[in-house]
Amino acid sequence: MRKGQVNVFFLLLFLSLSSASDQKWRKAMMSAYNGSSSSSSMMMNRVGSSILFPIHGNVYPTGYYNVTINIGHPPKPYFLDLDTGSDLTWLQCNAPCVHCIEAPHPLYQPSNDLVACRHPLCAALHPPDYKCESPDQCDYEVEYADGGSSLGVLVRDVFSLNYTNGVRLSPRLALGCGYDQIPGTSYHPLDGILGLGRGKSSIVSQLQSQGLVRNVVGHCLSGRGGGFLFFGDGLYDSSHVTWTSMSQEFTKYYSPGSAELHFGGKATGIKNLIVIFDSGSSYTYLNSQAYQALTLLLKKELSGRSLKEAPEDQTLPLCWKGRKPFRSVHDAKKYFKTSLALAFANSGRRKTQFELHPEAYLIISNKGNVCLGILNGTQVGLQNLNVIGDISMQDRMVVYDNEKQVIGWSPANCDHLPRFKSSYYM
Ligand SMILES: *[C@@H]1O[C@H](CO)[C@@H](O)[C@H](O)[C@H]1NC(C)=O
Ligand SMILES: *[C@@H]1O[C@H](CO)[C@@H](O)[C@H](O)[C@H]1NC(C)=O
Ligand SMILES: *[C@@H]1O[C@H](CO)[C@@H](O)[C@H](O)[C@H]1NC(C)=O
Ligand SMILES: *[C@@H]1O[C@H](CO)[C@@H](O)[C@H](O)[C@H]1NC(C)=O
Repeated sequence: MRKGQVNVFFLLLFLSLSSASDQKWRKAMMSAYNGSSSSSSMMMNRVGSSILFPIHGNVYPTGYYNVTINIGHPPKPYFLDLDTGSDLTWLQCNAPCVHCIEAPHPLYQPSNDLVACRHPLCAALHPPDYKCESPDQCDYEVEYADGGSSLGVLVRDVFSLNYTNGVRLSPRLALGCGYDQIPGTSYHPLDGILGLGRGKSSIVSQLQSQGLVRNVVGHCLSGRGGGFLFFGDGLYDSSHVTWTSMSQEFTKYYSPGSAELHFGGKATGIKNLIVIFDSGSSYTYLNSQAYQALTLLLKKELSGRSLKEAPEDQTLPLCWKGRKPFRSVHDAKKYFKTSLALAFANSGRRKTQFELHPEAYLIISNKGNVCLGILNGTQVGLQNLNVIGDISMQDRMVVYDNEKQVIGWSPANCDHLPRFKSSYYM
């Protein structure tokens, strides 16, 4: 990223392997710290409160968004990737570490509060027929779509969080102590990953089971970089959000089910696209057939215009050069007038449209060319999955309500933290 080449970032959990490794957790090496007990019982009535985090990063050139979370006792900061495409939160960890990747902070010193193998949080990370190797510890291995992986053990530790009303909370939550990482093709030098998926082990699901927030995750990624992340349902007006139900068929990811590609307000016939929302992916991916159809439509639209393909620009697979270098997507917008949208049909009566404005699918490379931020998913091994990545979620609030099982979005200014009532009770 620092050399200006693009990061095709990709944090979609693909597999949750059973004990693929004979690596034994080194208990003796763990820190002796016992942790303080959770204050959650005192917070039981604050279910309506939300937790808000500022985030940093951008789609290009950085290629990811990160959030700072304070973990441990005393709390230490860690920079984590926000990933709605996977459940488990993990930190690079001194267990000691077999393979760790350069990280901004010292390795996490794990607490010695191990999650047992039979615990439901552990079971949620393994297939139903998983055999525990040792009952008192939960080994995990997660593998991401870009080939990266983390192997480790689940521990519980204190997360230092604040409600928007200023009340502090310090729940003990399960996280992965990752002591053997393989970097993926798009690896970013962070301390770990914040798993925000639909599963039980996700941080928000754990906070909900302790009665601390509603199981709702939302993010607002600014096109100018930065933005915010929140847990709970106190920071948006539900009546201004376009909602669509989560698929009951593809339950591993945040998916509204299948969609049809619309171009210029018309259906293209490219349908049955299984779409997922994944903040761990910087770009949007369509399967080969849809990608091919889209690039043909765009090329047709651009033919005879002064934009010329620029194959010498390797920033992304498809870039175009204008008469003069572009400085922002706004400069290039006039060439991309035809509207683009994904129409979800699963609500039955009414189709919900997720519109893709030029800012939601184009970037300006460091050479001043305009490049298509929708990529060929088949080429990176996504098979038939279609991924809505950060580029297409910019400048709107995207909300994943796991209790109502709906996904929603609304236009938003992500440059400022949302205003909220000083206290919010349901
Ligand atoms: C650690 O915590 C456990 C359970 O919370 C308790 O039984 C044990 O005595 C504690 N150990 C120390 C050294 O504080
Ligand atoms: C992550 O976010 C923090 C602020 O929360 C920022 O200071 C830091 O530079 C970011 N780290 C990386 C590696 O992008
Ligand atoms: C929570 O609020 C306290 C002050 O009220 C502040 O010192 C602390 O940094 C905040 N923690 C987080 C994680 O924002
Ligand atoms: C997409 O990638 C697949 C696999 O690499 C390839 O076979 C196909 O031709 C690509 N499609 C387009 C339109 O480039």
